[in-house]
Amino acid sequence: MLVFFNGQITDQEKVFISPFDRGFQFSDGVYEVIKYYPKRFFELDAHIARLKNSLNALEIPVPNLDNFKQILEELIARNNLVNSPANIYIQISRGYQFPRRHNFSPDVKPTFFITVEKYLSPEEELANGVKVGLEEDIRWHRCDIKSTSLIPNVLSKHRAAQKGLSEIIWHRKGNITEGTHSNICFIKENSLFTPPLSNFILPGITRKVVLNLCRQFDIPVNETEININGLKEFDEAMILGTVTEITPVIKFEGIDTNLKKPGPICRLLQREYKKLCYE
Ligand SMILES: Cc1ncc(COP(=O)(O)O)c(C=O)c1O
Repeated sequence: MLVFFNGQITDQEKVFISPFDRGFQFSDGVYEVIKYYPKRFFELDAHIARLKNSLNALEIPVPNLDNFKQILEELIARNNLVNSPANIYIQISRGYQFPRRHNFSPDVKPTFFITVEKYLSPEEELANGVKVGLEEDIRWHRCDIKSTSLIPNVLSKHRAAQKGLSEIIWHRKGNITEGTHSNICFIKENSLFTPPLSNFILPGITRKVVLNLCRQFDIPVNETEININGLKEFDEAMILGTVTEITPVIKFEGIDTNLKKPGPICRLLQREYKKLCYE
């Protein structure tokens, strides 16, 4: 596989990062995940804007992104992915710093790494829905930054996988925030409900696209707190993400809900989202 590393496209086997890179020492970095659909980078400008926000929030210098799209195009082409959907992972750490110190010096140069991988659409999950679990959200209070410090996400997702669940949905004191790698929304009486943007959730780009679709199709949108005790009220639920797309949720482990199978609004949103990706 060919990857982008610090200004060059090169073979993945030729890439080495020092153990003194602050990404390794402190999880000191940010990332983005962008989807390529033949032949478009989905919501590229929104992803670049969020990447810049994350970098600025962590005081990591923003690299020159003038030729960013050309780099992505070249990676897709040279990895023979032009005709298939692909996930693009962008990782930027604060960079190499020796000796190891918590505080960072201004002359540290960020480490910039991009990989692409073929995306195999999980048709079964998109069609029939997934089961999720609920856990308390123990993350820090800046979940709006797409930081590579993902230990709570990693551990919750690992527990989910061990139990045969696709995702863990977190809550803070009973109020739902988001999933380990997705935002969440619900439908009640043909209206959409989703937790409001705040420092407790990532401003998901799929979420934004879905809310725009709702406005276009006259589906009322409520960005409001959702308590785990009220889950029984909802007719539909979906998890949303660049990789997850719009995946119906049919069960919350251990909770009696009315979800059972994907509903009509989920189907409408999936259909319209697909058009935006492919047409
Ligand atoms: C914690 C978290 N929330 C939400 C999302 C969804 O964001 P997006 O739709 O921009 O991919 C992700 C995506 O990876 C995520 O990691």
